[in-house]
Amino acid sequence: MYDDERELTGGNASGRVVRVGETVRKPWIDNTPVVQSYLGALRARGVDAPNPLGCDQRGRQVVEYVHGALALDQLPLGREDLLRVGRMIRRIHDASEFFPVPDPDGWKMLLPAENPNLMCHNDLAPWNLLTGDRWVFIDWDAAGPSTRLWDLAYAAQSFGMLFEGQPVDSAARACLLIGCSR
Ligand SMILES: Nc1ncnc2c1ncn2[C@@H]1O[C@H](COP(=O)(O)OP(=O)(O)OP(=O)(O)O)[C@@H](O)[C@H]1O
Ligand SMILES: [Mg+2]
Repeated sequence: MYDDERELTGGNASGRVVRVGETVRKPWIDNTPVVQSYLGALRARGVDAPNPLGCDQRGRQVVEYVHGALALDQLPLGREDLLRVGRMIRRIHDASEFFPVPDPDGWKMLLPAENPNLMCHNDLAPWNLLTGDRWVFIDWDAAGPSTRLWDLAYAAQSFGMLFEGQPVDSAARACLLIGCSR
């Protein structure tokens, strides 16, 4: 335990997430080594993703702490913000083309896409987007072989708030903005 270790809340999937100084520590999982090189490759291609910083003395993965406010606390996003998110996703996918696609048979996926052909984030949603001086998708643990369409549809659904009980017209408009701002 580090003196300045602080628990981070907001996620619900992957166990304990803590901040230590300007870093975040999360459990190391099977996919972590490849995901860390994927983050490095995206950054080398100009995508602003958390800097991967390897493993700490307690065997946890370490990534850069990104300052900002979760998009989840700002829903519904307005038109310009939705367009911005759509463009971010386009850039992530374009940069991902340069990363070798892992063998889907050896990759643990919660919701596998059909015919995966691209390394993708797979959880591009308001609960994983930090906004502020930088807009950065965090929580790359679910990254793995998928498709642009799957990743984009998931983002359109989550950012567009295409959920039961939401007004259909505004949800459809928001989904279109995510998908058309390419
Ligand atoms: N790199 C980071 N920089 C800043 N804050 C972060 C970072 N990574 C995680 N956090 C904070 O910690 C919270 C939980 O982290 P994260 O989303 O990675 O965990 P999770 O349990 O995998 O979540 P999820 O339920 O989305 O899968 C986030 O909502 C965010 O507030
Ligand atoms: Mg998360």
